[in-house]
Amino acid sequence: MDKVVSLCKRRGFIFQGSDIYGGLSNTWDYGPFGVELKNNLKRAWWKSLVYERNDIFGMDTAILMHPKVWEASGHVDNFFDLKSDCKSCKKRFKAEDLKGKKFCPECGGELTEARAFNLMFKTYQGPIEDAANLIYLRPETAQGMFVNFLNILDTKHPKLPFGIAQIGKSFRNEITPGNFTFRTREFEQMEIEYFVNPAEADKIYEYWVDARFDWYLGLGMKADNLRKRPHDKTELAHYAKACTDMEYNFPFGWSELEGVANRTNFDLKQHAALSGKDMRYFDEVAKERFYPYIIEPSGGVDRSVLAFLTDAYNEEKVKDETRVVMKLNKELAPVKAAVFPLLRNRPEIVELAKKIAQDLKKSFVTVYDDTGAIGKLYRRQDEVGTLCCITVDVQSLEDQQVTVRDRDTMLQDRINIDQLKQYLEKKLT
Ligand code: GAP
Repeated sequence: MDKVVSLCKRRGFIFQGSDIYGGLSNTWDYGPFGVELKNNLKRAWWKSLVYERNDIFGMDTAILMHPKVWEASGHVDNFFDLKSDCKSCKKRFKAEDLKGKKFCPECGGELTEARAFNLMFKTYQGPIEDAANLIYLRPETAQGMFVNFLNILDTKHPKLPFGIAQIGKSFRNEITPGNFTFRTREFEQMEIEYFVNPAEADKIYEYWVDARFDWYLGLGMKADNLRKRPHDKTELAHYAKACTDMEYNFPFGWSELEGVANRTNFDLKQHAALSGKDMRYFDEVAKERFYPYIIEPSGGVDRSVLAFLTDAYNEEKVKDETRVVMKLNKELAPVKAAVFPLLRNRPEIVELAKKIAQDLKKSFVTVYDDTGAIGKLYRRQDEVGTLCCITVDVQSLEDQQVTVRDRDTMLQDRINIDQLKQYLEKKLT
C-alpha cells in the first residue's frame, strides 16, 4: 500500500487534501493523472450501463435535498454508528471495532459509554442557523433517483424493468475514515436503481450480482483479487432484503468495493407516505398498480480507482534495475501516448516531436516530454501506465518513421508518422 500511495503522490495521481496547511486528515485531491483515471472509470461505467443499454436513464440530481427525504429513507432514525471516545487521548472509536473492550486500544485510557452518532453531515440553508433551516449533505446518491421516479415515468414512459443511473458525490461523517481513499467523509458513488416487478426481483438481483462482478473483470481486474460475499441477515441495511458485496483483495485485506442490494419497495412506499404522491407503477397489461422492487448496484468511484491502481501496480526486474509499471487496462490508462525527441539539442527533432504530439492530442490523451534522457522518460511514463511511447530520432527526419514502444512488452515497432493514428486506434480497440 505504501508503494501505491507514494507513487500516487510522486506521479500526480492523488495528493493529500489542503497539503500546504499540513493537510486536512482523510481528504484527498486527484492530480492530473488521477482525474484522468477517475474520469475514464466513470466513462466506462456510464458507457456500459447507459449508452450500451436501452433500459437505463442517466441523471444528475442535487446534493442538497428536502429534509423529509432523509426521514422517509430512514437515514434520520437508522443511519448511525455507536462510538466511544477515549477520555485521555480523545481518540474516537466505532463500538463494533472495540469488540467489548473497556479501555482505549491506543493509550489504555478510560472509554466513554457508547453513544449513537448519526453519520449525516448537517448544514443550514440560508443565513439563519436554526432547526427550521437544517438540511443534510446526501449520504447516498440513491435518494435523488427515487424522488425522480415519477419524472422518469412521465417523460420516458418506460416499461418494467428499467433503471436510473447516477454518478455523484456523497458525504458521511465517518467515525473511522482511513486506508488512503478507501473510507473518506467525502466520496463519489456510481449507483443504479433498477425498478422491477416484485415477482422477478430475486432473478434480476442475481443477474446484477454477476453483471457487476464481470464489469470489473472486463476492465482488467485480476480474478484472484475479486470475490462476491453475500451478506447474512444481521448485516443487512434497514431497507434491504438481500445484499451481495463485490470485495477486492486490498493490501489491508478483503474489503467492499460495491454492494448489490434488493431494496424491495421500501423507498418508494416511504416517499409515497411522506410526500402524499402516488409512487406506484401502472402495469398496462395486468391493469394494476403496484410498487416495483428496486435492485441497486451501488459502487464507490474512489474505492474502484484505488482497487485498479493497486491491481495494476507491478515491479519487474529489467537487467539490474526494477521497472515500476502501472499495467492499467487501455480504457482506464490516463495517458494513451507520450512523444519524446531522442536529442533535445536538435531543434528539427524537437519540432517534429512536438508536431506529432499536437496532432495525436486531437484523438488521444497524449503528452510531450523532453525533460530527461530517454531511459528516464520511459520510466516516468511506465509509472503512469502510458500505453505507447513514441520516440523521434535523427532517422525520423529522413524516413518519416518513429519508434513506438509498447508499455507491457517493451517491444519496439518502427511506424510511419502518417500511420501513427491508425496504429494507435488499432491498439486501443
Ligand atoms: N445506496 C446504497 C449505499 O450507499 P453503501 O454500501 O453504503 O450503499 C455503496 O455504499 C458504495 O459506496 C460502497 O460499496 C463503497 O464503494 C462506497 N462508499 C460508501 N461509503 C464510503 C466512504 N466512506 N468512503 C468511500 N467510499 C464509500
